[in-house]
Amino acid sequence: MFVPFVDLKSQYQKITSEINDAISLVFGKSNFILGENVKKFEEEFCQYLEGGYAVAVHSGTDALYLSLLACGISSGDEVITVSHTFIATYLAIVQTGAIPILVDIDPSTFNIDPDKIEEKVTDKTKAIIPVHLYGHPANMVQIVELAKKYNLFVIEDACQAHGSKISGKKAGLFGDFGCFSFYPTKNLGAYGDGGVVVTQDEKLRDKLLSLRNYGQKKKYFHERFGINTRLDELQAAILRVKLNYLDEWNNLRRNISKQYRDQINSPYVSCPVEMDQYFHVYHLYVIKTYERDQLQEWLAKKDIQTQIHYPIPVHLQKCFLKEFKNDFHLPVTENISKKILSLPMYPEMSNDQIKYIVKSINEFNV
Ligand SMILES: Cc1ncc(COP(=O)(O)O)c(C=O)c1O
Repeated sequence: MFVPFVDLKSQYQKITSEINDAISLVFGKSNFILGENVKKFEEEFCQYLEGGYAVAVHSGTDALYLSLLACGISSGDEVITVSHTFIATYLAIVQTGAIPILVDIDPSTFNIDPDKIEEKVTDKTKAIIPVHLYGHPANMVQIVELAKKYNLFVIEDACQAHGSKISGKKAGLFGDFGCFSFYPTKNLGAYGDGGVVVTQDEKLRDKLLSLRNYGQKKKYFHERFGINTRLDELQAAILRVKLNYLDEWNNLRRNISKQYRDQINSPYVSCPVEMDQYFHVYHLYVIKTYERDQLQEWLAKKDIQTQIHYPIPVHLQKCFLKEFKNDFHLPVTENISKKILSLPMYPEMSNDQIKYIVKSINEFNV
């Protein structure tokens, strides 16, 4: 049996007519940039989160970059984040000229270790970017408290965490900014690139609106330097359809994760944790195993696709080492990058596929 890592076609097949209708309406109106779908999507996304103001942009990377610009972060400033993340978190920081300061992670959640942040704060530190990696929120309570103490901005990288929660409050609403990606494979994915920034502050929202649209509030009147990073109407129309399914799809992901957790009994494998009061949305289902490469090979032979998120931490990437010295001591990050393996995870997975994956893992032997 073939099990792909993700399967976007099967999702489209379930919502074909709704999507096609939404797209036709956009073509019919032929208003492709900053029209009613973007505006409505921004409102509906905030209704979904139960708070904030949303500014829809071209990608998750731009959402992070625009948030940093809105904080006034520039050359020489320091921004604290993790090395165990997708490279975009780091790229958004260096794009502003700021210096990324990388902190080690908690070995159980794979998220920033809140106890290791304070020692990295200097008088140049301007912001912290916690990443809610794989769909499990970072410890926002501790992070926000620390940020208040040192007067730092908090920019949540929620690009993998649409709908995840801590004590019922959705990720993206804890910091000054919450940044989401709508890359097609995300829990809420567009049919192309897309992203959004959410903020609680109306003034920051206005700044973001102008920054995403050439620095103008009124056409051809440019109050600041801005860029062009707008979500387009087609993607907004598609996302409006898919947003209605997000909770259902997240619950399906959680059901799959429960089956993995309950049924995988291999002594070589440990399953991901979900902390008390945290609501994990399993963008990725990442197991830990000392025998990672052998297990990946074994599953590949059984026609089961897996991936590694991420095989090389940011501070060991060539692009990082060209710019910065690696004087970071990140043993947990380095250790975990050798042991993690992401199993197939998408809402449309069949029970037979899940059983087959579990059986194949349980049969693995070294
Ligand atoms: C943790 C994280 N941050 C940032 C991004 C960047 O998002 P995008 O690909 O939409 O630019 C992604 C997604 O790919 C991500 O997973």
